[in-house]
Amino acid sequence: HLYALIAVVASYLLGSLSFAVIVSRALGMDDPRNYGSGNPGATNVLRSGRKGAALATLLLDALKGWLPVFLIDHYGARWGLGPGVAALAGLAAFLGHLYPVFFGFQGGKGVATAAGALVGIDWLLGLATGTTWLIIAFFFRYSSLASLVAAFFAPAYYLLGAQIAWPFLRLVMVSVLAMSALLVWRHRENIRRLMAGQESKLGAKKKKD
Ligand code: G3P
Repeated sequence: HLYALIAVVASYLLGSLSFAVIVSRALGMDDPRNYGSGNPGATNVLRSGRKGAALATLLLDALKGWLPVFLIDHYGARWGLGPGVAALAGLAAFLGHLYPVFFGFQGGKGVATAAGALVGIDWLLGLATGTTWLIIAFFFRYSSLASLVAAFFAPAYYLLGAQIAWPFLRLVMVSVLAMSALLVWRHRENIRRLMAGQESKLGAKKKKD
């Protein structure tokens, strides 16, 4: 249990690295918390018009969700850590992204980090969820809507996969459900904007709402 606790705390600290802010600072750009939706995430960095910065944010935020899950899955057994703890570590990294200890607990919405964690839990689960995001984003051009739909599907994909491709593990299910529920909660402003027809489309640049 001590090793599990250490793994979870370390994952939370890793997740607390808000790469939207770090990448923007490194490139001498505005802080993403000061324009667009004000969200420190890849979608909002894209509103700056700097696609490379947005891509770097997306990849690094996803990496910090994937890495703890991957490391525990592959090297955790010698400390008695299994896939359940690996999924919990993914959830901890996700929580770090939402409530980062290094950035006054003012974090993002967790889409990229959850995606990374899902790929770590099972790459097929990540692929199915990521494809869902892409399909909705392609047809509707709203990043937030794509994230919300993907969040609804992820637990269903896990359950489906547990019928055919992998064993059902309660801790994994709980972690996936918790990420989905928190992700939806963090999108409450987006949900309001979507319903009011005021959400900004992918590719649109704009200043603080
Ligand atoms: O990455 C979060 C995305 O789903 C919405 O971001 O900036 O439009 O609130 P944003």
